[in-house]
Amino acid sequence: MRITTTVNGTRHDVDDVWPGESLLYVLRERMGLPGSKNACEQGECGSCTVYLDGEPVCACLVAAGQAIDREITTVEGLATGEGLHPVQEAFVEAGAVQCGFCTPGLLVAAHDLLERVPDPSDLEIREALAGNLCRCTGYEKILDAVRLAASRQARA
Ligand code: FES
Ligand code: FES
Repeated sequence: MRITTTVNGTRHDVDDVWPGESLLYVLRERMGLPGSKNACEQGECGSCTVYLDGEPVCACLVAAGQAIDREITTVEGLATGEGLHPVQEAFVEAGAVQCGFCTPGLLVAAHDLLERVPDPSDLEIREALAGNLCRCTGYEKILDAVRLAASRQARA
């Protein structure tokens, strides 16, 4: 079937999609957007987190047919203009990226948190990122990155 959906502000028609195919597969394999990662494909790790109509979701759990006429934003769409988004910059500067497999999902989750709660407590940060697993960093650098992004956002 053909699905028509908007990804990172651009309307796309994608042909030959099986209705049960995941949105994650469509993004990565049919649209050439490999930013969202496939680590578990079971909704457990958060590495595939994208916005669907403004709500963070695990793209591996969304059927392609559910994405028809919806607005999707992936990690590739967080940056505006030429540079990285401030949350992306903060992850790099705080050393929150090691293998990077968890990073796209964490960036979307952190971006969502800071949109909703500009000055989050540590508890709010931990709760917001609880669905995103990282096997490398021990999480401290990730928390540092979100704190850094929040402090910069407050000064902007
Ligand atoms: S790949 Fe979707 S939650 Fe792990
Ligand atoms: S940086 Fe490797 S899983 Fe998080």
